[in-house]
Amino acid sequence: MTDTLALLKLRRSVPPQFLAEPGPDERQLSELLTIAARVPDHGKLVPWRFIVFSGQAKARAAALVGEVFRKRNPQAPEDKVAFESKRLAHAPLVVAVVSRARQHEKIPQWEQELSAGAVCFNLLIAAEAMGFSGSWLTNWFAFDSDILAAFGIEEGERIAGFVHLGTADGRPADRERPDLATIVSHYGK
Ligand SMILES: Cc1cc2nc3c(=O)[nH]c(=O)nc-3n(C[C@H](O)[C@H](O)[C@H](O)COP(=O)(O)O)c2cc1C
Repeated sequence: MTDTLALLKLRRSVPPQFLAEPGPDERQLSELLTIAARVPDHGKLVPWRFIVFSGQAKARAAALVGEVFRKRNPQAPEDKVAFESKRLAHAPLVVAVVSRARQHEKIPQWEQELSAGAVCFNLLIAAEAMGFSGSWLTNWFAFDSDILAAFGIEEGERIAGFVHLGTADGRPADRERPDLATIVSHYGK
């Protein structure tokens, strides 16, 4: 069993291009999504859902990102188009976390959106605890109308993130973290 504090202290995102097979199998994915959905959720509204990209369908989604990039940037050189068309192709598995926050008489939409962010991070941490690595990214296409339509994102929904999952050869070196003195204050002092 991984020690939670040790994992959280050392956690790093691993960029998709460094994520190789194996990714989570069906049973592992189901366990990961079950854990990811155990986030604080005010009012039990379940204001998020998952779209899993794997296998040939993931390859088609990746190609579509390249096509839409070309349409938006007709002057872009081919190598740039090829780069964009690989964004969803690298990791063995990609999970889109979709925020479906809606008007509610008591629960602000902001709280529902925060809950979707918590889902992304819970998924990332659970995957790391299971021995995988990953990244939580949006990239430009999480906000592109053609992509949203093609991925079945409905009116009022937004992509909270694409969580790219796979196996990495170690983790990147640590990076500088904020100095607590700059971000902590004590009320009343
Ligand atoms: C909502 C959200 C979207 C993000 N989208 C991107 C992105 O599109 N591209 C990127 O390079 N990093 C993005 N990041 C940052 C990475 O997830 C990650 O935090 C960063 O690479 C630092 O690595 P670390 O998690 O190891 O500290 C995003 C983070 C969040 C919270």
